[in-house]
Amino acid sequence: MATINGIGFSDATPQKYENFKSVIQPYLLIYDKILGKHRKYSNWMDNKFHYFDITSGNGRNPKTGDMGSPLLFIEEAIKYKNKFKLHLIEQNIENCESLINDICNTFKSPPNIECVIINGNSVDILPSFFIGKKKKRFGLVFADPNGVKLDKGITPFDLLRDMSDCGCYSHTDYLINCNSTQIKRNRGVKTVAGFEKYDKDLNGYMKDVGKKYWCLTEPRGNANWTMILATNWWELIKKMKSSGFYWNKSKKGQEILNKIN
Ligand SMILES: C[S@@+](CC[C@H](N)C(=O)[O-])C[C@H]1O[C@@H](n2cnc3c(N)ncnc32)[C@H](O)[C@@H]1O
Repeated sequence: MATINGIGFSDATPQKYENFKSVIQPYLLIYDKILGKHRKYSNWMDNKFHYFDITSGNGRNPKTGDMGSPLLFIEEAIKYKNKFKLHLIEQNIENCESLINDICNTFKSPPNIECVIINGNSVDILPSFFIGKKKKRFGLVFADPNGVKLDKGITPFDLLRDMSDCGCYSHTDYLINCNSTQIKRNRGVKTVAGFEKYDKDLNGYMKDVGKKYWCLTEPRGNANWTMILATNWWELIKKMKSSGFYWNKSKKGQEILNKIN
């Protein structure tokens, strides 16, 4: 995989964006209906949809210039009346600057979207959202690291497990772009770059994440990238089948896992 400004890309990247769009489009439609209903009478939940992109990039595929995850999300979210709060985390300052410019130039202050771009390491920053008593939040976290680990031996699975421990995120789902070949290759390796070993297969990592259900796509490219959606809501898993996401315990899900694990 080649990188520009720390943003990895390969021939499998365009398919990643297709998978992302195929989740976001039906997903926001479903949550728009739910949020619309709850907003009228609920005081136990936040009235905004929270989107966390913990590896935001600079807004574009560095090779093709196609829109990346934060822009694709906004492009879809502006179609709705409900309010969205975006938390976009990116460790590279130049990528953050490009992202700000790109968002401002592409979308002219959409009234339903509040967007905060945070320059820093999501391993340090995301946990700051777990502190304090909050209303329950409907939302989605997207993790799209270049490899399996984010930093300092920490994977998105580790970070998201801590998020699940925080009750207000029981209605926040997780979308993870996962390099399954790297997990497979490194399994059993004692230390990698001085950090804790990779000791689990994908099932093991997903068990730790703290959501009841998950589904995944067919693998893409040499690294067998697969996109995984994890949630506590069974209906969502059923609905995502038409977007090419298969429940891990279904026949098709098992076939994929046998191929990549
Ligand atoms: C594969 S790119 C993400 C691309 C983006 N999701 C898209 O669709 O265009 C990974 C990005 O995550 C950033 N990154 C990697 N580890 C990070 C971390 N621990 N905290 C914050 N950003 C990180 C890298 O600088 C890089 O820009």
